[in-house]
Amino acid sequence: MSERPRLLPILGQSHTGRSAMTCMYRCGNACDHPVPNESENPYFGDVVQAEVSRRGVVRAGAVGALVLGFAGAGAAAAAPALAAPGGAGAAPDVEALKASPTKGALTFSTIPPNRLDNFVVPNGYDHSVVIRWGDPVVPGAPAFNLNRQTVHAQSKQFGYNNDFVAVLPLDKKGDRALLVVNHEYTNENLMFPGFTSLDALSVEQIRVAIAAHGLSVVELERVGDTGEWRLATKGALKYNRRITAHQTRFDVTGPAAGSAFLKTAADPRGKVVIGTLNNCAGGVTPWGTILSGEENFNQYFVGGDGVPEADKAKLARYGISTTARYPSDSRKWDRADERFDLTRHPNEANRFGWIVEVDPFDPEARPRKHTALGRFKHEGANVIVSRSGHVAAYMGDDERFDYLYKFVTDKKFQKGNSWQAREHNLTLLESGTLYVAKLDYTSASEIDGSGKLPSDGAFNGSGRWIPLVRGDKSFVPGMTAAEVLTFTRLAGDAVGATKMDRPEDVEPNLVNGKIYVALTNNTNRGTGSNPKADEANPRTANRHGHILELTEDRGDHTSETFTWSVPIVCGDPADPATYFAGYDKTKVSPISCPDNVAFDGAGNLWISTDGNALGTNDGLFATPVSGPERGHLKQFLTVPLGAETCGPFITTDNQSVFVAVQHPGEITGASIEAPASTWPDGDYAKPGVVVTWRLDGKPIGS
Ligand code: FEO
Ligand code: CA
Ligand code: CA
Repeated sequence: MSERPRLLPILGQSHTGRSAMTCMYRCGNACDHPVPNESENPYFGDVVQAEVSRRGVVRAGAVGALVLGFAGAGAAAAAPALAAPGGAGAAPDVEALKASPTKGALTFSTIPPNRLDNFVVPNGYDHSVVIRWGDPVVPGAPAFNLNRQTVHAQSKQFGYNNDFVAVLPLDKKGDRALLVVNHEYTNENLMFPGFTSLDALSVEQIRVAIAAHGLSVVELERVGDTGEWRLATKGALKYNRRITAHQTRFDVTGPAAGSAFLKTAADPRGKVVIGTLNNCAGGVTPWGTILSGEENFNQYFVGGDGVPEADKAKLARYGISTTARYPSDSRKWDRADERFDLTRHPNEANRFGWIVEVDPFDPEARPRKHTALGRFKHEGANVIVSRSGHVAAYMGDDERFDYLYKFVTDKKFQKGNSWQAREHNLTLLESGTLYVAKLDYTSASEIDGSGKLPSDGAFNGSGRWIPLVRGDKSFVPGMTAAEVLTFTRLAGDAVGATKMDRPEDVEPNLVNGKIYVALTNNTNRGTGSNPKADEANPRTANRHGHILELTEDRGDHTSETFTWSVPIVCGDPADPATYFAGYDKTKVSPISCPDNVAFDGAGNLWISTDGNALGTNDGLFATPVSGPERGHLKQFLTVPLGAETCGPFITTDNQSVFVAVQHPGEITGASIEAPASTWPDGDYAKPGVVVTWRLDGKPIGS
């Protein structure tokens, strides 16, 4: 099949740098639809109740109680080794880094922009494919058969379009680990030979696609003493597991569990949901679980035109059509499962859009959907333990003009490896306070949408975390706690949250305690009647996105106030409307559409891209965030044609970089028979997870 003609990747581009095919499958053509946020956003001071008080006691100390290890639960006999939120080093030695500021300098040779149908890494590095779509996950899974795909087989095999990646050590030696991966969405054109249209798919094929959503957990083993990892094939592989959209039961926790909004005919208690959908990014907790964001869940539902009139505004705010039974390019999953028909089951959509917690060390444990963290198009959630011991989770709602959120737990993280500590920590995300961000500006009058740096030398300002709900207490007039949590976007509208340019990953850097936000793009910014550019979203028709750095006041992650700045305004460095923290722009890599972020043990910021609007392949980039090298952004790798770079994860030992190659060959017009990419096996495109390591064994990037 490698002889088949390749499609030119320029074909079918739409919106920004994405293929029209990606727009359709990935987010249900969100860019073609009206912006769901039509709120006027009144000034927050008018509506937030006065009795809301600051929470948390500020104490002196280092950056958070980082990561203290955890005992395996359930089936985990041996205590797993350390895991770190966000994939950064386990308890990075902050003092040593301060004493040696050059440690962690990024010396790898920069990868130039390219349009190769290859996975490209720097000289001195190597890479291998760890797992790809269709590979066996559950022991006994059938071998993949492209021409005879079944729901039975797919439910045991690696799903489609891997996104979030986490690697959790399984032993203290560092030779075994668990790989946890999200499967965000499917592309039926590229999955089924002879594909003609979504309507022509058989019900069994729809079921295969449903089963290809969800997550996978697989055991890995290190190859020798290198940074390479491969699938473990020996032993019981007792952790290996598929979580799917059609079989796995999820317990619903938190204040909205059991509310009227979540009750359906199949679940009259509103407390157990079958399946998870469109799991995009995520994070690792210090107690050894993973968090996964349910993102563009709206696209799977039909029949929004037939719901009670009173429900329509809420559905529309989440991007669900209330005027057409079948929105354009609908997958029509109601053909396989009637619960996707909102006319018949109007609350079913309310059961998606949550943060999901999975315990990979306990295959028997039911995953949970945590309502306390709100419902929106969750990109993901990443946590850090504050000095007080409370855990803060940072989150983005990936939609044009939607919001940044923070959740702070009521309870404190318990250190140590005891069973009791882990059982306690597993309840942390069930109760707490949900906040939304409101930003203020220092140079508001100078922002003209051109991206020109203000005269004070920075896009920057202060901000407030506006409390929306704490436990059963709503701070939003006219909305109950369950309403605030289930229709969080409406709550954010009511309190005047700041409309951002598609907040994707929002992730704390464990070395400096600052929070980094990837704002992917927003070509609607400042166009027509849409909100104009502001200092935090400083470009009209923002095609390339930017990075926002947020610093909690006093370094306290329970704080309700913060400062922020924009260190990187993405694009071609030759474009005057770009900014790289003041670094010499002739020395930085072009970057467009930042999506996911990660940190290495030195605290360097790693950024992956989605939909490079500069016309070259997506990639992974890295830059120091402090010292004279701050802003010296360099491209570390590129992914094959049509693909996006997802889930960057740097292992705790700084020996390996994992990325998910999502939707390779997803270029409009491509098919199995005429693939636009033949990665990774030379025949047709398959999403897969890749590990990159350094041949001389030294730390990645340095
Ligand atoms: Fe699934 Fe926000 O990208
Ligand atoms: Ca300023
Ligand atoms: Ca993403």
